[in-house]
Amino acid sequence: AVESRVEDLLARMSLADKAAQLTQYFHFGRQDDANSPEGEFVPSQQAAAVEEAIGRGEVGSLLFVTDPEQVNRLQRLTIESNPHGIPALFGFDVIHGLRTIFPVPIAMAASWDPAAIEAGQAVAAREARAVGVHWTFAPNVDIARDPRWGRIIEGAGEDPFLGAVVAAAQVRGFQGDGVGAPERVIAGPKHFAAYGATVGGRDYDEVNVSDAELWNVYLPPFKAAVDAGAGNVMTAYMDLNGIPATGNEWLLKDVLRGAWGFEGFLVSDANAVRSLVTHGFAADLTDAAARAVKAGLDLEMAIGDAAYGHLVDAVERGLVSEDAVDACVRRVLAAKVRLGLFEDPYVDVERAQEVLADPVHREAARVAAERSAVLLRNEIGLLPLDPTALSSVAVIGPLADSRRDIIGPWCFDFDLEETVSVLEGIRARAGDDVEVRYAAGVRPAQRGTPSIFDAFGGNRPVDPEGFDDEAELARAVEVARSSDVAVVVVGEWQNMVGEQASRSSLDLPGRQLELLQAVVETGTPVVALVMNGRPVDLQWAAEHVPAILDIWYPGTQGGAAVARLLFGDVSPGGKLPFTWPRSVGQVPIHYAHTTSHDPDNQGLRYWDEPSTPLYPFGHGLAYSTFAYSDLSLDNASIGPEDDVTVTATVTNTGDRDADEVVQLYLHQRHGTSSRPVRELKGFQRVPLRAGESKQVRFVVGPDQRRYWNAAKRDWVLDASTFDVWVGGDSTADLTTTFEVTAG
Ligand code: IFM
Repeated sequence: AVESRVEDLLARMSLADKAAQLTQYFHFGRQDDANSPEGEFVPSQQAAAVEEAIGRGEVGSLLFVTDPEQVNRLQRLTIESNPHGIPALFGFDVIHGLRTIFPVPIAMAASWDPAAIEAGQAVAAREARAVGVHWTFAPNVDIARDPRWGRIIEGAGEDPFLGAVVAAAQVRGFQGDGVGAPERVIAGPKHFAAYGATVGGRDYDEVNVSDAELWNVYLPPFKAAVDAGAGNVMTAYMDLNGIPATGNEWLLKDVLRGAWGFEGFLVSDANAVRSLVTHGFAADLTDAAARAVKAGLDLEMAIGDAAYGHLVDAVERGLVSEDAVDACVRRVLAAKVRLGLFEDPYVDVERAQEVLADPVHREAARVAAERSAVLLRNEIGLLPLDPTALSSVAVIGPLADSRRDIIGPWCFDFDLEETVSVLEGIRARAGDDVEVRYAAGVRPAQRGTPSIFDAFGGNRPVDPEGFDDEAELARAVEVARSSDVAVVVVGEWQNMVGEQASRSSLDLPGRQLELLQAVVETGTPVVALVMNGRPVDLQWAAEHVPAILDIWYPGTQGGAAVARLLFGDVSPGGKLPFTWPRSVGQVPIHYAHTTSHDPDNQGLRYWDEPSTPLYPFGHGLAYSTFAYSDLSLDNASIGPEDDVTVTATVTNTGDRDADEVVQLYLHQRHGTSSRPVRELKGFQRVPLRAGESKQVRFVVGPDQRRYWNAAKRDWVLDASTFDVWVGGDSTADLTTTFEVTAG
């Protein structure tokens, strides 16, 4: 039925009508909201131009509209202006929530909890769909091994196995049973492909990765997202090994649609079709449009004039066939039909408000924030804090009292009124008998280069008026000195990480390190809370601060969650989804490297610092301790296509209930390629009561042993000896081996 409706429409459409269906525009109406008399909507200049284009029937899709009344108004304009009454598809970046903001994606990955990740994105989808958004430009499934790159915050970190599991969970959360599921949105994994490998960590720079890296590291999360049924994929901005991703026929046709059987529609990143000219790939916009369509790029996302405005010309000049255009239009129309837009194009504005206000969503966000925190260090058992043993707590640092920062970047529809800062959360949880004293200590820092996101971010002032640096630092020291414990929040301001927010340093910005040092010098026990989306330089803190809890940007309910973690209502159970470098000079550093030359020299390759990281991939403590034992296999010698079942016992050896993420790593000792020293191939987050033991079982099948061999340019399964480790991080030492025979 979907096909016949699509064919019926297609048969009646002119070439210009078809080009319109392939054109998506940003609608930046919100920028003028402040100027609206009595709440009336006044489109910005950019939005007014887009609305004129809609009026001419030239637009098939919009992004950045989330006010349900505006969605309805623009939808009506689209339907009435389109000669065939075809409704618009509304897309938006629903990355970690729409109104209810969940922890940033790297934090959700740190929960190592696919069920929580899926549930969080289902909430995001429900809110988005209620306001009229049909499709999200998420999940970001880019593997990131260089934390200078700001968009590390949007993904699941450095590991392809974890990345693939997280990608699939997000797609399920957004889409439910598939395109058109009620209260869900189409998922659009991005940015195809390997955008995270940008040189120098500089956003939008070129990417040059080897064939083996591409297949073994960067593509698996995309494959997992496609296998989970993603209805859309977004192409990346940059050159991939010299060919722009958005016009890359091999990537889009041979790999995505051919080898993987992707049947959904493709969208370009913003202006990426126009950029085919900037790259020095296409000769002009007509050529760019033709080459993108030939590569199977269905929708062009554009801010200004769309290159697809030249499609009619491109077909008339014979640069691309109308059949190729039709193939793209079919995929876009099929999505609109499946979503039910022809029957039900408008949203119920009142119901939207009810959905956005649903308290269940806030509760889910708080639990997610608790599950994503990573306890990096806890010497002297400082955490959890016992409120009955305290009379005062100092809360220090400008991030501690910032509602805007705690929700992180890449959210636009947040409500700061209902956001809980760290300070507010601690005040509420500590109770009346504990005095909570606050000092900012240092001024809020601002990043150097302005970006397009500044218009949406609710940014902080660069130089708050009347801020006396020395007096404020002295006040923070005094507040710490006179308190029983000091909680110092350090990290990056939310607009220092994300798109267009790469950094050349991982230092704590501004005078935060000096503040931390001054507070530690008072002798008051210090807990450092790290608010971040990338690893920052914690070398000093890792030696001198007894407790360090990574809270990431934990979202709307972040302050409440952090307080519950600090006071032991719940134990941290998250684990790092990336290797934490000592300094920026170690970057890139990842655990799944190969060994070369001198295996004993791994830790000593720098003259001036160890080459081991500050914290390994998978690291994370709890308010309890765990022991591993009884590692065994059901079969120590198997054929190439066989499974081996690995079991191990994990015991909570402490006196508090806590979760442990049990991780399985694999290493192939020899074969037709050198393989990484270890690779994550299984994990389970296991809740354990104090003193409880559980047996954990993993099946290691051919899928976990298969890899792309660069010489054969194919997937291989080698006969070899395999080492297995099971434990609580990537340095786990409980080990055994099995053989895979040639069969
Ligand atoms: O979805 C984003 C993408 O990740 C980066 N460029 C803009 C798009 C739409 O906002």
